[in-house]
Order: sequence, then structure tokens, then C-alpha cells
Amino acid sequence: MAKNDDQNLLKKIIAHSKEYGYVFPSSEIYDGLSATYDYGQYGAELKKNIRDYWWKAMVQMNENIVGIDASIFMHPTTWKASGHVDAFNDPMIDNKDSKKRYRADVLIEDFVAKIEAKIDKEVTKAEKRFGDAFNKEEFLSTNGRVLDNQKKIDTINARFKKDIEEENFDDLKLLIEELGIACPVSGSKNWTEVKQFNLMFSTELGAVTEGASKIYLRPETAQGIFVNYLNVQKTGRLKLPFGIAQTGKAFRNEIIARQFIFRMREFEQMEMQFFIKPGTEMEWYENWKEKRINWHKSLGLGEENYRFHDHLNLAHYANAACDIEFNFPMGFKELEGIHSRTDFDLKAHEEFSGKKLQFFDSEEERSYVPYVVETSIGLDRMFLAVLSSAYTEETLEDGSSRIVLRIPPVLAPVKAAVLPLVNKDGLPEKAREIMEELKYSVNVQMDVKDAIGRRYRRQDAIGTPYCITVDHQTLEDGMVTIRERDSMEQRRVSVDEVVAEIEKAVDLKQLLKTL
Ligand code: GAP
Repeated sequence: MAKNDDQNLLKKIIAHSKEYGYVFPSSEIYDGLSATYDYGQYGAELKKNIRDYWWKAMVQMNENIVGIDASIFMHPTTWKASGHVDAFNDPMIDNKDSKKRYRADVLIEDFVAKIEAKIDKEVTKAEKRFGDAFNKEEFLSTNGRVLDNQKKIDTINARFKKDIEEENFDDLKLLIEELGIACPVSGSKNWTEVKQFNLMFSTELGAVTEGASKIYLRPETAQGIFVNYLNVQKTGRLKLPFGIAQTGKAFRNEIIARQFIFRMREFEQMEMQFFIKPGTEMEWYENWKEKRINWHKSLGLGEENYRFHDHLNLAHYANAACDIEFNFPMGFKELEGIHSRTDFDLKAHEEFSGKKLQFFDSEEERSYVPYVVETSIGLDRMFLAVLSSAYTEETLEDGSSRIVLRIPPVLAPVKAAVLPLVNKDGLPEKAREIMEELKYSVNVQMDVKDAIGRRYRRQDAIGTPYCITVDHQTLEDGMVTIRERDSMEQRRVSVDEVVAEIEKAVDLKQLLKTL
């Protein structure tokens, strides 16, 4: 069954995450805080493993990319220069009956997505009808219903793009009304005017309110990279093209934060700014699109679950941009952005700071402001992508059922659980020996409580790829049973082999080599 056929999948994932220590509502004892979540003992490990894989793939695997860790608070002029004070807005519209607030662009995009779904349905129907003889390209360019729907999409998109570019919010409202878009809560089409809302959180720096100055919580980590461009370039003696990467928290006052950890007010980004010679940006833009999609595909979450989506509504800094979308339980949504940011940011920082942020090109014997191609992925969204593709409910041959998290072993929070068959007769001691051996290379845990079958289920639900069972025979011949999470296959192997096998199976090196 396709993931998004299951309306309840997201709810099940939320419940499972809470029950098994992955994600908890923030400050839950005070009834939580909307759109903020805490990562529990397994969630923190999974998040760290995703971050590590990204960092290694970007920084360690590329001689010309280095990593930094800039602070969350930055000089307030940073955000004036970056355009966030003036332009980091969302066009919002309220429904007068439900009093609910929506992003106007999201209402329109959702409407367009419904028409796209109609086209997809036509394609699926025709594929079934024509079988092997089906030619998708030809069908899309000749079928009357598809062409009508495509025309509708193009007309809406063109008007929407123009309205956004020209900040024509009266027409944006008119467009919503003409399309007959209704509030999902009240069902009414009784809308207010469209207004702009800035998404940055602000606070005050300084002990007393009077002398305090207003500062912002960074809405993206990228600016910490731009303001350090010269420091890093000079101290690292870096030549174009080169990249600076960083991971860290970002904050946005999302008006409609929703869908679990997909859209939060506090989240983590993993960003890389690639500094290049002006004029080479389209080449590098394509190059990074390919590199990033390969990174995603290497994890084996299913190639069909990814697609590119070009931006119509370009951010204030970009001359080309696209998203890598993932098939989340609520459908295809943005997971990562790849943006050609031109020299917008560095030039703006030059202007506002009065400092030169240039590169001396010794071949051309001239200095210029580099262009930038950026890759920006939300760590929390990647976490949700991993979790939602991993979550599986299975009915087994004996009629029993299990929930298993088929997390790629390299990312799994616990790589192996050592289970003494009984909690006596020297078996726990032997199990501990194995654990002591493994713990230096992988995250391993010992579980002694409950019948062995229940312990296997518990590890399946956590997503542990390997269980090692120690029984009485082990004490005699040094052999243990290794059970694989996905196939549930069990084999007898020696203790030495088991350690080597697990270390190899969860080693990031294998994955990094495929990039
Ligand atoms: N520096 C460019 C930038 O910030 P963006 O498309 O606004 O671009 C990049 O954000 C990524 O950050 C998104 O693709 C998404 O994965 C993640 N992200 C953005 N807003 C988020 C939110 N409110 N909650 C969780 N993740 C978010």
C-alpha cells in the first residue's frame, strides 16, 4: 500500500515515536507547547546519525568543503542585509468564520496539487488500459482531459507568480476566491485581505530593557556562513570553488506550524554554501542537485519517494531554486532546497558592513564577489522521512503481528541488542562480555527482561537491526544466534564473527563509498 493511502499513518508514527522514546511533545507535563518537540533517547541517536552522515558526505568526502559552527545570535544588521527584515514574510489570509489563518501561497499550491493528482489518476488509468504499449509522454501531450487540467495549472501558476512578484495581494485574494478555495475547518469562502507577516523571532540583548537592542533568532544557518566567508577563506587558504557547511538550530515564527516535526518553530538545518566563480552557477546548481539526490538515494528509502520541484515563487535571494520533495505520509513535500543565490548575500553584507568580501582570482588577476549555490536540508524533516519510510506493520506467518522500524542499519539508533536467553546460569555475564566488546564501535544495549520473543518485538519496534542471543550452548562452543530485524532470519555464528559482521554492516564507510 502506498504510504499516503493510509490516512492514519502520521498519527501512528507520532504515537509510536512517543511510546518508544523517539519524539515527545515538548514540556509535556505542562500540556506541551504547540509545534515544539523533544527528541528522546532513540530520537537523539537517530538525529545524530543522520547529521553525521550528512557531515561526512559533505565535509569529510570533499577536499574543498569545510565545516563551521556559528552562533545563533548575530549582529542585527545581518538580517537587514540578508533581506530577512524586509522580505522574510509570508502572505497570510484569515478565514472570518473559523478565525483560522493560512498561508495564501499554500492554499493555492494545495489547490494546484489536487489538479496534479487528477492528471496522475488519468495516467494510472491509461497505464492499466494500455499495458506495455503505454507511452506516457505521448499521453500527456495528447489526452484532452490532461491538457485541460495542465492548462488550468499553468494559468493559475502564472497569475500566482505575477501576484507574488508584484506583491499584488488584492489579486491574490481574488484568485483564492475565483478558485473557490474554502477553509478546511469552516468550509466557508469568507476570507479577509491577504497580509504579510514576518517570520523572525526577536528578543532583546542586554540586561536592562532601556539600553537593550533588538536581536533575532536566526531563521537560517546560512548567514552565519556568509559573515564568516572571509575568515574561513583566508585562514583555510581556500580557492574557488569551495564550500562551507554547518548544522544548527534555526527559528521561524511559523503561523501554521503543523504535521508533527515537519513544520516547527524551532528546527535544525544542515546547510552548505558553495562559493563559485560568477557565470558558473548553473553548472554547479545542476551538479549539486545530482550530488544531493544521490545522497538521499544511497539510504535506500525508495527512489520513487523522491522528486524535484522547481520553485515558481523564488526567494528574494535566488535566481534558480528547486526542492527535493519526499513522499511523506501526507504526500510529496519539501525535504531539501537547492538554491542558486548569486552574489546577493555577500554583496549585501559588503554594502552594510563596509568590508570587502571578495576573492582574488590569480588567473584573471582581479577580485570579485563569488556566487553561491546552496544546499539546505531540514534535519527534522529528514528524520521524519526516515521514520515514515521505516514504519511497517506486518502480519507474520503464524498470524501474529509486529511493528518494525526498518531504519537503514547505518542510521539505526541501536545497532545491536545482546539478549541472554535467561537471566541466570552465567548467560548475562557472557552477554555483557559481548556488549563490552561491541560498545567501542557501535551503540549496543543489553536486554534481559521478558521472554525472548517479546524482547525481539521490542527491538523491532525500536528499529535495532541485529539481536544477538546468548544461550547455554554459547558457554560451550562460543557460538551465538544472530537475528536480522527485517528478514527475522536467525543464524549461528561465533562471537568474533558476530562482532566483525555487525561492525561492517553498520559502517558508514560502505555508504560513503557509493556517493
Ligand atoms: N538557507 C535557505 C533556507 O533556509 P528554506 O527552504 O527556507 O531555505 C531549508 O529551508 C530547509 O529547512 C527546508 O527544505 C526544510 O527541510 C527545513 N525547514 C524550513 N522550515 C522548517 C520548519 N518550520 N520546520 C522544519 N524544517 C524546516
